Amino acid sequence: MERIAVIGSGKIGTAIIKSLKRAFPEQEIIATSRKEETMRKAKELGVYTTLDNDYAVSKSEIVILSVKPQHLPEVVRQVNRERWSGRKVISVLAGVRTETLSKLLPNSIVFRAMPNVNAEIGKSTTAIAESKHGEKQVVERIFKTLGTVYWIPEELLDVWTALIGSGPAFVAEILDAMALGAVACGMQREQAYDAILDMVQGTVENLRVHERHPIMLRDLVATPSGTTIRGLMTMEEEGIKAGIIKTILSANERSSKIGRDIESTLLRDET
Ligand SMILES: NC(=O)c1ccc[n+]([C@@H]2O[C@H](COP(=O)([O-])OP(=O)(O)OC[C@H]3O[C@@H](n4cnc5c(N)ncnc54)[C@H](OP(=O)(O)O)[C@@H]3O)[C@@H](O)[C@H]2O)c1
Repeated sequence: MERIAVIGSGKIGTAIIKSLKRAFPEQEIIATSRKEETMRKAKELGVYTTLDNDYAVSKSEIVILSVKPQHLPEVVRQVNRERWSGRKVISVLAGVRTETLSKLLPNSIVFRAMPNVNAEIGKSTTAIAESKHGEKQVVERIFKTLGTVYWIPEELLDVWTALIGSGPAFVAEILDAMALGAVACGMQREQAYDAILDMVQGTVENLRVHERHPIMLRDLVATPSGTTIRGLMTMEEEGIKAGIIKTILSANERSSKIGRDIESTLLRDET
């Protein structure tokens, strides 16, 4: 692939670099950051590093933007406006629409992707916003090194951020609650935790192998007068299902709000 600049070598930037290097060891990458310490860590991944975003963009045909949204104005100021022309720019920033990015990065070919933290182990579930531009293959090629890729309409990226971006944290919280329940019943935490991870992995595989709806699996386990139906009644009484639905709704609302706030700041700075 053409040379890639990764602007912002933090958690997600580093995960992208690692996956790209694993899949394409010869891939040329220029990574940037603000701090020397971050740059030193990126260098260990076998990439060229610099604190100079303008230089990185000038030397690369593909630019991955992986700074926090609030740091985007700084990046825009640091890079000569002419540099963006003709560059394929892929943003993983939450909330910032391609329309806004296109205004900020003149004449660039902008794509938006939303990976998740599982990119660390090559198991991200990444959405890429559908685009009228050609060049889709190169974007897909990059993100397939991180895991699975779904093309979705851009207006669904907020719910994607809530469901799949924040999702690992919600799942982690549920797993922790289950482990605490086991501890409350007298089980050792470590053993409970290992068993829970195995059980969840098995459940996911079972659903996939049998192409079952979750409700079918639930009804298979919930035998008359058994333990499962008792537990399910408690879940109903405690409003767990409604709580989870509301969790996704509220995270989705927050994602849209962050996007709107960032956009108004970015566009105000621009004018
Ligand atoms: N973490 C996730 O699970 C995840 C998932 C999907 C999307 N995202 C998106 O990915 C972006 C980064 O998130 P993150 O979690 O990776 O954050 P992070 O760990 O804080 O990384 C951000 C990096 O950007 C660097 N940076 C800030 N300003 C810069 C500048 N002007 N020039 C060059 N580098 C600069 C920082 O460098 P220093 O260390 O030198 O300060 C830092 O390493 C966010 O926009 C987020 O919405 C994150």
